[in-house]
Amino acid sequence: MDVSSYKPKGKIEHKHLLNLLDYSPSDIYEILHLAGKLKTALYKGKKHEYLKGKTLAMIFTKSSTRTRVSFEQGIFQLGGHALFLSSNDIQLGRGETIRDTAGVLSGYGIDGVMIRTFKQSDVEELASCGKFAVINGLTDDFHPCQALADIFTVYERFGKLKDIKFSYFGDGNNMAHSLMLAGAKTGMNVYICSPKGYEPNPEIVEAAQKQGNVTVTDSVEEAAKDADVLYTDVFFSMGQEKDPAKVKALMPYQVNSDVLALASKDAVFMHCLPAHRGEEVTEDVIDSTRSIIFQEAENRLHVQKAVMCLLMNKKHR
Ligand code: CP
Ligand code: NVA
Repeated sequence: MDVSSYKPKGKIEHKHLLNLLDYSPSDIYEILHLAGKLKTALYKGKKHEYLKGKTLAMIFTKSSTRTRVSFEQGIFQLGGHALFLSSNDIQLGRGETIRDTAGVLSGYGIDGVMIRTFKQSDVEELASCGKFAVINGLTDDFHPCQALADIFTVYERFGKLKDIKFSYFGDGNNMAHSLMLAGAKTGMNVYICSPKGYEPNPEIVEAAQKQGNVTVTDSVEEAAKDADVLYTDVFFSMGQEKDPAKVKALMPYQVNSDVLALASKDAVFMHCLPAHRGEEVTEDVIDSTRSIIFQEAENRLHVQKAVMCLLMNKKHR
């Protein structure tokens, strides 16, 4: 199956989007299908206020441009309302527990909480204690919304996901984890190309390999050869200390014109952003016509609107 042959059901059997591990291929196709419909509706100027009167709280304990703006604009376009809750301003940042925060927000009738934070276990605790949908807006381990927007972008570009060679270069981080889950579940051939010592979490690799084709390699040539998509992310994720040894290890995994030359002639470059030109990618690649970074960033809006529609219209109380 691929997105185009999927028959939408208008629902998914999940209350939350925490990590993609428990999402089936059909759940993912459902999201991508609805994202396409919502994108078309927006472009045609058609109203699509499917979340009228609903409230999304957005908790951030790390910085953000794309996640914050796309969720806030997304819920607005769906007729709902967003509350931006920076941990600098709310009591969570002064040690109030996740459990108490969840209990309080539940009492105010919040329908969904998007949370960006460090520990995955905090996101999971929020989901288990609150009476609302929880959407993971990035943790140290996962970034599911970005990965869903990324595969939606690949689908738009190539008209399919099955058998696309999708190669990620660099740190085996939250992006690598979410991309291999999303890619494996949708029939892509995912390559994670990382140096020794910076590979993705082996438990997540094993989980992804049970669902599809994932190869972990330290060979840039193997990953880049005939690839349809070249993807990279920063050397240092939010919250990580700069470390010269890591820079030295990751520099040979930079996506540059030599890497691009090994890829398929129609290959595209992707990056979740923010990017550091001269580190994980060179200017001549990220600023070239092969780069689809702004289409990718825009698709965060459409895909997250689909996620919100599918999760926030449910009864959580
Ligand atoms: N890609 C992404 O999540 O960007 P922000 O950190 O700006 O939200
Ligand atoms: N790996 C990066 C992704 C940013 C969107 C980080 O966690 O900082």
